[in-house]
Amino acid sequence: MYTTLKEVLKEAELLHMAIGAFNTHNLEMLPAIIKAAVHQKTPVIIQTSCGTANYVGHRNLVAVCRSMAEEYGVDVVLHLDHARDYDEIRKAIDAGFSSVMFDGSSLPLKENILGTKRVVDYARARNVSVEAELGTVGGTEDGIAVSQDDACYTDPEDAVEFVKQTGIDALAVAIGTSHGQYKSKTNISFERLKELQEVVDIPLVIHGGTGVKDEDVKRVIDLGIRKFNVGTELLVGWNRKSRECYDEHRENISNRDNVVPCLDTITEIVERKIHLDEFFAPRF
Ligand code: 13P
Repeated sequence: MYTTLKEVLKEAELLHMAIGAFNTHNLEMLPAIIKAAVHQKTPVIIQTSCGTANYVGHRNLVAVCRSMAEEYGVDVVLHLDHARDYDEIRKAIDAGFSSVMFDGSSLPLKENILGTKRVVDYARARNVSVEAELGTVGGTEDGIAVSQDDACYTDPEDAVEFVKQTGIDALAVAIGTSHGQYKSKTNISFERLKELQEVVDIPLVIHGGTGVKDEDVKRVIDLGIRKFNVGTELLVGWNRKSRECYDEHRENISNRDNVVPCLDTITEIVERKIHLDEFFAPRF
């Protein structure tokens, strides 16, 4: 079923598990991610930056997610990732995205609350879920860069106030992970995550999943992470495979011969992540 973030996270919460949220950068990657979820019998969250949504077309993304959810009987959420602009968020909601993230993490707390609340008001009336971020995750996500000096952990007291005043469905927390980290792994502050879990009563989201060590996945899920974001690992896999194929093949072959191996790589990576069996249990 094509569904909302709120719905799938409700179930994840009951089972004390997390759902994988995977960034696609084009239309081709999208079915490859959903097929991995079908093989692993789990729900899946597809997320795109505003850049990707504008490039592919919002309605095209919605149409593919809807039709694959229906065809394969898998729960699919389509989520707009890290949107800072209210009009971009409205565009996605109006086109049929079932979830959005307002990223006001670079704003002072009060402005972040106001901006987030405005998005929640618009989204809620249309049965669309909202994720927001407090504290700052470092690194680069689709061209949006946050230097390590500006990155700061989520403050538990602020988090309680933020959730209460905004009415969001999921909170992205800054606990030491960074976007785009793939050559090394992250040192997560489990202490901070525990403090947050103790006081925040909505599902927590981890960003920068590529840099999270496999052995830390279970631990963060035990400490309340219910949405697990992975982007860069897919991009790196696609780009490496793509380079290999283009180097290997004649230039007049069907470009499918260069693209299909990349799609297989994407499916493999997503399946491996989901299969770190701390992710959502098979259920359909
Ligand atoms: P990575 O690209 O580092 O895996 O992070 C993905 C993410 O958090 C998307 O918001």
